[in-house]
Amino acid sequence: FGTQKINENGILEIGGVSVKKLREEYGTPLYVIDKNYIVEKAGLIKESFKSGIFKTEVAYASKAFLTVGMCKIVEELGLCLDVVSGGEIYTALKADFPMERAHFHGNSKSIEELEMAVEYGVGTIIVDNHLEFELLEDICEKKQVKTNAILRVNPGIDAHTHEYIQTSKFDSKFGESIFMEETKELIRKIHGSEWIKFEGLHAHIGSQIFDVTSFLKEAEVMTEYIKGLVEEGIGVETLNLGGGYGIYYSEGDEPIDLELCLKEQVRIIEKINEECNLGIKKLQIEPGRSLIANAGTTLYTVQGLKTTYSGKNYYFIDGGMTDNIRPALYQAVYSGTIGNRCLEAKENLVTVAGKCCESGDLIMKDTKLQRAELGDVLCVFGTGAYNYSMASNYNKIPRSAVVMVEDGESALMVKRESYEDLIRNDVY
Ligand code: LLP
Repeated sequence: FGTQKINENGILEIGGVSVKKLREEYGTPLYVIDKNYIVEKAGLIKESFKSGIFKTEVAYASKAFLTVGMCKIVEELGLCLDVVSGGEIYTALKADFPMERAHFHGNSKSIEELEMAVEYGVGTIIVDNHLEFELLEDICEKKQVKTNAILRVNPGIDAHTHEYIQTSKFDSKFGESIFMEETKELIRKIHGSEWIKFEGLHAHIGSQIFDVTSFLKEAEVMTEYIKGLVEEGIGVETLNLGGGYGIYYSEGDEPIDLELCLKEQVRIIEKINEECNLGIKKLQIEPGRSLIANAGTTLYTVQGLKTTYSGKNYYFIDGGMTDNIRPALYQAVYSGTIGNRCLEAKENLVTVAGKCCESGDLIMKDTKLQRAELGDVLCVFGTGAYNYSMASNYNKIPRSAVVMVEDGESALMVKRESYEDLIRNDVY
């Protein structure tokens, strides 16, 4: 994973910093983000998603992991930013992110959030449905400000992934179906709007998808749909294909060949665009997980060991579902190591349990790890995406700190929450 290495003492190093040192300096649980991994992955994605015909843009799906520091990195890397709430817009604003490079998503945006997006000059609003379009038009008219919009459509592609992260089945809550005549009517309306510039269409078929053909099917279905619109005289300049590229977490995962997938997506659209004279000008994607997940490692301290009556071995850690809800929510499987025993064999069958009062708070189930003693550093890989961003304070557990490592140096990105932080907003 990224720049991880094992040093001569058998200790894991990330970005050239040993996990023991990181623990000494920042404590655990600790999210560690490997900057070089992000830089390299962004380079690969941008390079693979290029076209000789279209302008191409890569937007980072900030829901995967967003902090003020991450916004700055996204800006430096020349990426756009996909945001889905007033809070994500606010974070981008605080990082001085160029708002014209922000894309505002969501199926249930509030009036205040839409107003905020228009006021702060968010570059594109991805409209989810009829009513949202009407609200947005009213807001723009009232403020006498024009805005750019893309309509999210549902192309009905049944991509194979966990049902909670599928987004393109016929009854999905996201977007308007391309199989409904009303959707075309809505497109005509946006196209004819005085206040909203219709830029094009957006689709996102789901997350953690391993099958390249789902993405290629999406590219085909969307271009076919655009063909129908063009025949009616509705120009579609921008096509945004969303994110969802599947990555490696643990044994058995066959991650998508991202380079190949992106190149093929571009090739298919270029071909149909040329054959049918579609006039598409810009292609966009919005990867989240594939950029950041494998940049992240969570460090925990082993603070308990137990063998049950039936012989099950537990390692107890100082974090759990409050810093990583994914195993409990999606039965996600992670891999890891005892960071101070990397040279020892992984010969113990163990379950790593978090500290919450929930039987389902298990970060790794029946997995092979090295033996462990109290005070060892357990490292869980691939935790850069949807871990910090989905963290909670359940059981009044403070959120963990986040550090960035790069070339032998570490820097704090987010402070650990204190007990005081936990009651800061309690007024009675
Ligand atoms: N674009 C849109 C419109 C999305 O809804 C998402 C993810 C993405 C892009 C980025 O998808 P990615 O490349 O990261 O797969 N919490 C879940 C994932 C939910 C994803 C929601 N939308 C998890 O932990 O697996």
